[in-house]
Amino acid sequence: MMMLDSILRDAKKQLSSALIHKKHSFRYFTLTTLSLDGGPHSRTVVLRDFDPEKLTFSIYTDSRSEKIKELNEDSRAEFLFYDSKQLLQLAVKVHLIDIIPSEEKFYNLPDSSKKDYCVFQQPGTPIKGPEGVYYDFDKGYLIELNFEAVQLEYLKLKRPNHIRAKFHINQNWEGVFITP
Ligand SMILES: Cc1cc2nc3c(=O)[nH]c(=O)nc-3n(C[C@H](O)[C@H](O)[C@H](O)COP(=O)(O)O)c2cc1C
Repeated sequence: MMMLDSILRDAKKQLSSALIHKKHSFRYFTLTTLSLDGGPHSRTVVLRDFDPEKLTFSIYTDSRSEKIKELNEDSRAEFLFYDSKQLLQLAVKVHLIDIIPSEEKFYNLPDSSKKDYCVFQQPGTPIKGPEGVYYDFDKGYLIELNFEAVQLEYLKLKRPNHIRAKFHINQNWEGVFITP
């Protein structure tokens, strides 16, 4: 039987490998925050950094985006990773620990990628159509968000028994199996 510590190790290994392998399913994940009206708000983001020791995660975003306003109100968020080949789901409860504006990261990007962080208009504002955006390559809004995990839930669907386990920072990440 798979032991709890090897399950957590597997989760960390896969998150680390998503940083290197562009095709890894965990490269893209769902970030859910609490919207300003109190409801859930989910969107897809790219995993930019992961520290398996500290269980910290980084993403890049536009400093003017809605998620920033939401995280400034309530730093709690949830990450959902899913790999359809392994039927593996990781649900990670996190909280925001750091917001780091990074002009340097912005200036080092190729122009094609800079576009994601330098749209002249405020993200979320109505435009006439997809061509209606303007870019200001001199001014980037790239910021790095760092999150720390407080709980990780691992679920793998497999025969004869599914594997579901929950790990929490308060239990020193020891983990328990739970009914799938
Ligand atoms: C494949 C894919 C990858 C994305 N990666 C990011 C990302 O790394 N960072 C980001 O801020 N938005 C990313 N987005 C856009 C977000 O899903 C979202 O639409 C945008 O950030 C605005 O979200 P907000 O208004 O809730 O802040 C991505 C979208 C897709 C479809």
